[in-house]
Amino acid sequence: MKISFIGGGNMGEAMLSAILARGLSSAQEIMVSDVSEARREYLSRKYGVGVTGDNREVVGWGEIVVLAVKPQSLAGIMSGIKDTFKAPQLVLSIVAGARLSTLCSGLDYRQVVRVMPNTPAQIGEGMSVWTATAEVTGEQRQRAGAILGAMGREIYLEDEKYLDMATAVSGSGPAYIFLFAEALAGAAVAVGLSYDVARELVQQTILGSAKFMTQSERLPAELRRQVTSPGGTTEAALARLQQGRFTELIEEAVTAAYHRAQELGS
Ligand SMILES: NC(=O)c1ccc[n+]([C@@H]2O[C@H](COP(=O)([O-])OP(=O)(O)OC[C@H]3O[C@@H](n4cnc5c(N)ncnc54)[C@H](OP(=O)(O)O)[C@@H]3O)[C@@H](O)[C@H]2O)c1
Repeated sequence: MKISFIGGGNMGEAMLSAILARGLSSAQEIMVSDVSEARREYLSRKYGVGVTGDNREVVGWGEIVVLAVKPQSLAGIMSGIKDTFKAPQLVLSIVAGARLSTLCSGLDYRQVVRVMPNTPAQIGEGMSVWTATAEVTGEQRQRAGAILGAMGREIYLEDEKYLDMATAVSGSGPAYIFLFAEALAGAAVAVGLSYDVARELVQQTILGSAKFMTQSERLPAELRRQVTSPGGTTEAALARLQQGRFTELIEEAVTAAYHRAQELGS
């Protein structure tokens, strides 16, 4: 299938490399427009995809047109490509906070999918949450699901209101995990380990725990209880975390992200 990208930055590249790796399209079937000449040269050299600096050209080319630009560039880009879409083209936007209604009116086109991906998509371990307008056909939904599935896991949600909630969990979530990793490595150094050892312990502990959790039938709370013997080391640490309101803080953080997502999209 012919896929166009407007914006060949980090996420655009993650998506096109996943599409190529899965064989959903060949390099000859992908065209990217980007304002940066250096970026165009890089993508053309690395992946062999077509490149252009003309957004209208790239829209005219693809069966699926991916919008992968920063939210602040969106309005200007939409006004430049408005009225250029023709059914059955599908627009797939990963622009954070851009609502379906904003995209449909900005493009004067109704077959639009809105996605909230996350950064692990760059290594094929992403979590994409998506929704679509009523005008998006079953076949288009299948294609959107296949593209997003190439970057990791994907979940379709019928009601767009859930995207702001997902943004606060899976969209911003990698940053929570990275902060936790930073804090744990810092604490490891504070108790006397070298930074290199601390880094390895933290990375493998997070990776191993995540895999264990996904491969186990048990809920996270049960797995936590298994590691926590009465009077032991883990219990001492968890008690200190809860004294600092760890669970409540996470809820407050996610709620803050959710409210901010609502504000940015309104
Ligand atoms: N990165 C993530 O983890 C993540 C997660 C969820 C959602 N998103 C969303 O995905 C979108 C893309 O993010 P990103 O990290 O890939 O951003 P990015 O790296 O900045 O990529 C955007 C690309 O579009 C180019 N561009 C700017 N104006 C353009 C125009 N008028 N026409 C064509 N290309 C233009 C930019 O060039 P210049 O750099 O020269 O301006 C840049 O190469 C954003 O809306 C972001 O919110 C990202």
